[in-house]
Amino acid sequence: MDKNPITKIVDWYNEAKKTEINDPDAITLATVDDTGFPNIRTVLLRKIDSDSFVFFTNYNSQKGNEIENNNNVAFSFHWKSLAKQIRIRGIAEKENSKVADDYYNSRALGSRIGAWASKQSSKLKNREELLERIAFMEKKFKSNPPRPPFWGGIRIRPLSIEFWKEGKFRLHERELWKRLDLDQKWSIDNLYP
Ligand SMILES: Cc1cc2nc3c(=O)[nH]c(=O)nc-3n(C[C@H](O)[C@H](O)[C@H](O)COP(=O)(O)O)c2cc1C
Repeated sequence: MDKNPITKIVDWYNEAKKTEINDPDAITLATVDDTGFPNIRTVLLRKIDSDSFVFFTNYNSQKGNEIENNNNVAFSFHWKSLAKQIRIRGIAEKENSKVADDYYNSRALGSRIGAWASKQSSKLKNREELLERIAFMEKKFKSNPPRPPFWGGIRIRPLSIEFWKEGKFRLHERELWKRLDLDQKWSIDNLYP
């Protein structure tokens, strides 16, 4: 039996890249606010390493603030073309090193300018206000904006991972990998559908 569940995630993800119509890397990410009320939204998971996962965002956004206050997060993949789901719970931390610089610099100029212009999740008066901010940033940075200090990666280290595969008559296959701490070994259990 393979002792790193991320190897299996990569296998499923590679399969999904061939079969999903778009965004096989889309995840539904859950965070909680300071009253414990959950929040979800879709983000693109841009990096899968052997021990963790990274997505990119604005650190001042709602999700950024919620993670700052409580770094317990959860996310799921659902690949409809494969009838497969993966659920992950883990611990988030900022990834604002070279990994973030490299990803930022790989993006289209419009997206790099957009990251500067968008005060993500803050109130916007109207579309013109955003367009003005974009024009301002284009003038300011020309064709070479640096990565904004408030924009970067969030790395998630998993504590539990559940693989779900659709079965006949709703008798799905569920396999739960769990560990109590990031340096502990994984235990594996099957679950009733
Ligand atoms: C397919 C899809 C992909 C998205 N990818 C990202 C992403 O990678 N990063 C991001 O910050 N927001 C992404 N968004 C927008 C988020 O869903 C969300 O609207 C935004 O991040 C603000 O969320 P917040 O207010 O909870 O911080 C994506 C939305 C969709 C539908």
